[in-house]
Amino acid sequence: MGEYKTLLSAEIEPAIQWLQRGDLVAIPTETVYGLAANALNEIAVRKIFQVKGRPYYDPLIVHTNDIRKADQWITAFPQPLKMLAEAFWPGPLTLLLPKKPVIPDLVTAGLNRVGMRIPDHPLTLRLLQALEFPLAAPSANPFGYVSPTMAIHVMSHFQGEIPMILDGGACPKGIESTIVGMEDHQVVIYRLGALSRAAVEAIAGRVHLQRHSSSRPTAPGMLTKHYAPNKRVIVVGDTAEAKPFIKSPEVALITFSRPIDQGYRSVWLSAKRDLDEAAARFYATLQQWDHDPAIETIVVERFPDESIGQALNDKLQRAAQQSDL
Ligand code: TXA
Ligand code: MG
Repeated sequence: MGEYKTLLSAEIEPAIQWLQRGDLVAIPTETVYGLAANALNEIAVRKIFQVKGRPYYDPLIVHTNDIRKADQWITAFPQPLKMLAEAFWPGPLTLLLPKKPVIPDLVTAGLNRVGMRIPDHPLTLRLLQALEFPLAAPSANPFGYVSPTMAIHVMSHFQGEIPMILDGGACPKGIESTIVGMEDHQVVIYRLGALSRAAVEAIAGRVHLQRHSSSRPTAPGMLTKHYAPNKRVIVVGDTAEAKPFIKSPEVALITFSRPIDQGYRSVWLSAKRDLDEAAARFYATLQQWDHDPAIETIVVERFPDESIGQALNDKLQRAAQQSDL
């Protein structure tokens, strides 16, 4: 237990005060909760890495509320990326843009681009508007763990470690932003997220999807094992493949295509078979089973490989890596 009595509140005033003092505040966004600090204050940013147990080679996204403010922090805004910003900000899109020296190297892990986004959450937009600096914020979870989509998830990780969680309710998208940049005049998606590839391509034309995995990534959420609960995660192609697991009482099921009736140990993510609804519930469901002492293994049905389902499958695959268990 740390030094703080963590305040859980929907008031932005105390959040403004803590952030101005160089402290950390967890903030709601439409994707997942972030663990925020003044992005221009190196001492404050360092606390993010310490609290998360995050390696310094993994850079942070910088959040603002107004595209007109971005000129203070970036040297150029390439046209295709500007078009994407105009189409999707505020929203679940992070753009990698050439940074000015005012953004500390700590934020970008020494890279010359900074990840920027305008999140679409009313409380956090009001907070950002009231502050004279942008907010660096990774997802508010210990490094490598499932991202938080509710204030209680953040509380379970960082109670006592941070002074405040700004409670904005459940995150409506439920998975992280899509990260986009340019290389050699080509638009590249570095991380699939809540904004679909098709939506990006509708504005920017054909894009390249960088899908490599490594244990020391230069880019976004690309660690082979990431977004992972502590329990064993097994991916199955459909509910028929899940059948052999059903008899074990220590197995929990998460399905998309249809329900499997096995009492409390099974969740059907969307009765409408709606991928957006499934995404909004996915991380919270993983965490629910992860905290259930009766459960040892979580079996998850793959999602249809379309729109946000592509991002869900990507997260699922990383969550299922058992490399350091
Ligand atoms: O939806 C989101 O993006 C959430 C909310 C809080 O905004 N944030 C988030 O942050 O998911 P994080 O730190 O958990 O994941 C951001 C990823 C990291 O894997 C990092 O490697 C990558 O973005 N990233 C950030 N800045 C980068 C940069 N300058 N160049 C390459 N990758 C970058
Ligand atoms: Mg993260």
